[in-house]
Amino acid sequence: MLEHLSEQPKDKILALMAAYREDPRDTKVDLGVGVYKDASGNTPVMRAVKEAERRLVKEQTSKAYTGLAGDPAFSNAMIDLVLDDTVARNRIAAVATPGGTGAIRQALELIKLAAPKATVWLSDPTWPNHPSILKYLGMKTRSYRYFNNETRSVDYIGMLTDLAAVMPGDIVLLHGCCHNPTGANLTLPQWDGLIKLLQERSVTPFIDIAYQGFGDGLEKDAAATRKVAAAFDNVLIAASCSKNFGIYRERTGVLMAIAKNESVRDVAQQNLAFLNRQNFSFPPDHGARIVTTILTDPELRADWEAELEEVRLSMLDLRTQLAGELRRLSNSDRFDFLAEHRGMFSRLGTSPEKVEKLRADHGIYMVGDSRMNIAGLNADTIPVLAQAIIDAGI
Ligand SMILES: Cc1ncc(COP(=O)(O)O)c(C=O)c1O
Repeated sequence: MLEHLSEQPKDKILALMAAYREDPRDTKVDLGVGVYKDASGNTPVMRAVKEAERRLVKEQTSKAYTGLAGDPAFSNAMIDLVLDDTVARNRIAAVATPGGTGAIRQALELIKLAAPKATVWLSDPTWPNHPSILKYLGMKTRSYRYFNNETRSVDYIGMLTDLAAVMPGDIVLLHGCCHNPTGANLTLPQWDGLIKLLQERSVTPFIDIAYQGFGDGLEKDAAATRKVAAAFDNVLIAASCSKNFGIYRERTGVLMAIAKNESVRDVAQQNLAFLNRQNFSFPPDHGARIVTTILTDPELRADWEAELEEVRLSMLDLRTQLAGELRRLSNSDRFDFLAEHRGMFSRLGTSPEKVEKLRADHGIYMVGDSRMNIAGLNADTIPVLAQAIIDAGI
């Protein structure tokens, strides 16, 4: 049987990580993989996470199964964090999932059950796992323009023009904040315009929010998601706890499905639990319990928020420094977009050949589409990257 298998396409980011590890140059810089790193290159366990784990070890008396939807306290805490009180609770179905990816996967499976003919619209570019999972599930997809390679900002006109072609019942996948891979985001007035168009076209928005707290702060990063949640009868929201709690390997996420009313919510809730049962039965619990402990304990929560804010500001600082250095070296403002972008990534907007040149000549590793992880930089490597960008003629 196994001899009938063919090779799967290699994950480009994982291949890049392997190439980086094998590079003997001690001046090499890793701007590839999407994890937060501090100035010394570590991905630390957050203080509040350590404390929540200590409490769990001490106080947890059983590891028996939870419910198929996970612990409701986790879903409630996450609904609070993402939506606050924008939507009545009796309209929101929610399940814990293995990470944000698990939430996206379950959302797409729910769409398959509820609207098998719908097309799912993706931003071009988007996180590569979006099209990859959709393809694997055999679902129809189309893309809408998102990024202007000249201005390195959102191609808003292109986006609205392409989305004018959606059919009623289609699904439009949107990044709630900190767009991956570009770092370019809609302004709130632009979100209003987009919402109006999507309402006129009777589509269901599907928000992927994986970086709440990494852009402009916990509340501001949730603002667009809340606007969308308040404006439609049906909204799907996949939220990841991997980045903002730094618990990547615990696989912690939540899928929320906002329904028109309580009775539709109840059926949606039952379907979400069913899908969990079919795919992995009970969702992972450890990370979810860490998150619940932090979000429901005022002291731990304050400490988590403070550390998350430090992380956010450190990335903003790196952005400002890099843009400043490039302004100096290029004697122009053409790299100022780096300071405007938000989240962990920025798309430099250059060719794969120039990205390869940065790797070959300078040991600078970024994804082929010129996405760089800003958190991979530090005060020493910023001048190196800036000079390399100029030398490569970008
Ligand atoms: C846009 C986006 N969505 C979802 C995820 C999922 O994250 P995880 O499954 O690790 O929680 C990521 C992670 O890189 C992401 O960048």
